[in-house]
Amino acid sequence: MTTDMNADSYVTADGRTIGPVVMDLKNITLRFGGVVAIKDISFNIREGEIRAIIGPNGAGKSSMLNVISGFYKPQEGEVWFRGSKRPQMRPYQVAQQGLARTFQNIALFDGMTVLDNIMTGRLNKMNANLLQQAIWKGKAEKEELENREACEKVIDFLEIQHIRKTPVGRLPYGLKKRVELARAWPLNRRCFCSTNRWPA
Ligand SMILES: Nc1ncnc2c1ncn2[C@@H]1O[C@H](COP(=O)(O)OP(=O)(O)OP(=O)(O)O)[C@@H](O)[C@H]1O
Ligand SMILES: [Mg+2]
Repeated sequence: MTTDMNADSYVTADGRTIGPVVMDLKNITLRFGGVVAIKDISFNIREGEIRAIIGPNGAGKSSMLNVISGFYKPQEGEVWFRGSKRPQMRPYQVAQQGLARTFQNIALFDGMTVLDNIMTGRLNKMNANLLQQAIWKGKAEKEELENREACEKVIDFLEIQHIRKTPVGRLPYGLKKRVELARAWPLNRRCFCSTNRWPA
């Protein structure tokens, strides 16, 4: 049986449903002074799709992920997300749109526990004001409990229950990467980007 990968939606051999285009990058060029990190690159990512960017050191892979996540603004080209052209946005605004990422160099809070690190990944879902947070009633309490429940599900799924109260700075590299994945977990997210080296 052949699969028409250009159809509006199709099912992969391993049972994943691939839907419409979520992220569309059109003719992206990014320069740092005289260095052209990305030159006229176009591609798209569809719902349910797993895409890999491969290339030698310095090819521009991380730069492209930084364009997608709003860290870098390309000099040329357009980023379209869920059918709309994305204006220049700050990374937190991109995160609010449902885009999560991890970093090439681990970027966790070493002094905080695994659980607290993972909870920071959902801060943009917490809107209670300072007073509500201080007395921890109503909205603040409800949001925190929801946040905690969502994080516990991710912890269970990634099998890191045994380290949930451990400060991240004490963990080996492989577990730190797993905590980063948990923090950026695509729960309630629409697009997830990760760069380089995942331990088995
Ligand atoms: N912030 C920056 N300032 C100046 N030049 C940069 C910056 N970030 C990346 N570059 C340059 O852009 C090019 C692409 O770098 P990038 O880090 O995107 O490559 P990469 O494919 O992720 O490489 P690696 O496999 O080593 O992670 C390189 O020439 C790099 O030196
Ligand atoms: Mg890189």
